Amino acid sequence: MRVLSGIQPSGKLHIGNYFGAIAQMLRLQEEHQLFAFIANYHALSGGADLKELKQNTFEVAVDFLALGIDPSKTIFWVQSQVKEVLELYWILSRYTPVGLLERAHSYKDKVAKGIAPSHALFSYPVLMAADILLYDAQKVPVGKDQIQHLEMTRDIAIKFNNEHGEIFTVPEALVEESVATVPGIDGAKMSKSYGNTIEIFMEEKALQKRCNKIVTDSTPLGEPLDPESCNVYALAVLFLDEDQKADLAERYRSGDFGYGHFKKELKELIWEHFAEAREKRQDYLDHPDEVYAILDEGARKARSIASEKMQIVRDAVGIL
Ligand code: ADP
Ligand code: TRP
Repeated sequence: MRVLSGIQPSGKLHIGNYFGAIAQMLRLQEEHQLFAFIANYHALSGGADLKELKQNTFEVAVDFLALGIDPSKTIFWVQSQVKEVLELYWILSRYTPVGLLERAHSYKDKVAKGIAPSHALFSYPVLMAADILLYDAQKVPVGKDQIQHLEMTRDIAIKFNNEHGEIFTVPEALVEESVATVPGIDGAKMSKSYGNTIEIFMEEKALQKRCNKIVTDSTPLGEPLDPESCNVYALAVLFLDEDQKADLAERYRSGDFGYGHFKKELKELIWEHFAEAREKRQDYLDHPDEVYAILDEGARKARSIASEKMQIVRDAVGIL
């Protein structure tokens, strides 16, 4: 099965990204043909400062490779390396009613938040449809916020196919209910836009400081603590198996330990979990040419599929 996923290079990756998206991609690449790309064209649609876009794109590539995206199994590239996607975006625009785009929650939410309502922001779902249809992806793992974009992709593909025959695979969203919503240090959903993240690759001291900032209640030292209502516990269990979870919960309830102790334990869990990835990451950062070579090779494979598909699409619509 062909599975495709894109991630925007909009800043440093955090633990929410890891457990919500990356871990799932690592599992999928073992069983399916995974297409994974860094959606840098999409990054032009928001209000983000573009000064850091190039560097962020490179760093997200490094982080994905360090965390285990395996270029011998997965086709991994940067969106802008395969220009065919922009051609398809324009052609698909013909099959996209304005009313469909006007109903997009994500557009309305972003405008309500104060992001300038540019054409890029408005037509973003068409570019996402092009990403998916260009490679005939069958399944697209996404978070709940992206389900509507997948519906739009399906509508566009069906409209195109109705007019020109079965040219595009109509994709399905892969929404894993079991994937946790990871809380941030304030207990709300961890997100860059809330400033409540714990980054995957922080320096050790900064990581401990960040863990110390996790909001907890004011139970005095020496009293039993409730694991179920504790943000530190909610984060720690992401790294633990069932026995370890039970052990941690028991120690919470024993009254022998305070929150400071558990924050140190959490920092250790994070630090250890990403130890190997941290080493690999440093290695890639020291050898950027290797990273660019991997991306070029991924782009070459992606482009070969994309250019074949585009020829079929051009023929269908009569583009010389
Ligand atoms: P952010 O909210 O920090 O801007 P993105 O929207 O760029 O993160 O998310 C990239 C991917 O990571 C998406 O697939 C999203 O579902 C996942 N993700 C982000 N934050 C979390 C979280 N707190 N819990 C689970 N998954 C998350
Ligand atoms: N819109 C997605 C996001 O913000 C990123 C993305 C772009 C994507 N193109 C895609 C995801 C294609 C899946 C498939 O998270």
